[in-house]
Amino acid sequence: MAEAPLLEIRGLTSSVRSGGGRHVILSGVDMAVAPGEIVGLVGGSGSGKTTLACAILRLIDIDAGTILFEGRDLTRLEGAALRRVRPRLQMVFQDSMAAFNPRARVERVIGDPLRIWKRAVPAEQRRRIGELLDIVGLPERLLQRYPHELSGGQRQRVAIARAIATDPRLIVLDEPVSALDVSVRAQILNLLLDIRERLDMALLFIAHDLAVIAAFCDRLCVMDGGRIVEEGAPQLIVASPQAEMTRFLVEAVPKMKF
Ligand SMILES: Nc1ncnc2c1ncn2[C@@H]1O[C@H](COP(=O)(O)OP(=O)(O)OP(=O)(O)O)[C@@H](O)[C@H]1O
Ligand SMILES: [Mg+2]
Repeated sequence: MAEAPLLEIRGLTSSVRSGGGRHVILSGVDMAVAPGEIVGLVGGSGSGKTTLACAILRLIDIDAGTILFEGRDLTRLEGAALRRVRPRLQMVFQDSMAAFNPRARVERVIGDPLRIWKRAVPAEQRRRIGELLDIVGLPERLLQRYPHELSGGQRQRVAIARAIATDPRLIVLDEPVSALDVSVRAQILNLLLDIRERLDMALLFIAHDLAVIAAFCDRLCVMDGGRIVEEGAPQLIVASPQAEMTRFLVEAVPKMKF
């Protein structure tokens, strides 16, 4: 990585109380994301991917380590200093239905970040919401719908519109297409590639399916047992997996037979 990283994680450790002791979930994670880079994070179920995403977003407590974002250690920021970083670091979940307020129409779901972060005066906000809809390829008529009145693909487009509303530098996406069928999945992946090009945002894209992520990311990180066990160019990793988990994931990709 030639450029200074946008995100640099060193020795990140996190555990939860379990019985009388502690159960380690992240055990010394080291990884980095460069500006504008798409990093794929794969690993088996329970390897710690979602926990890592939550730690980066400061949604859970950590035991040790540093999370440098734009040169500032997020683990040491509190209050106003942390709030200033928030708009620059966004997240998209697999189940955006659960992440949205079910009583808020799409207009509010997308507009909330603009209001919360005071990104625009009200008249400006309407224009910006229109612009965001356009970027994610949704028609204006959907603005008055509720989240449950949208298809899964439309909901993920709304989640992406909301995530990019504050013009973040990094979006962490936790299995954003896992619940979608194959054709919709491809559309959303293309949308994300398009957004990266147009808006120069970096993506940390979590998936458990290597086939989805390998063709899409610039660099791949493989997680197992709460740490990164392999990292590199996706083509090289798929052609010659080194770690046991990576071999397992590569073998799990169905081979096409004709
Ligand atoms: N709040 C919690 N309390 C106890 N254990 C937890 C908690 N959150 C996560 N875990 C455990 O930590 C491990 C990692 O979970 P995590 O959700 O990060 O995995 P994941 O890689 O995202 O898995 P998946 O691919 O299934 O989404 C699992 O063993 C899980 O059971
Ligand atoms: Mg998960």
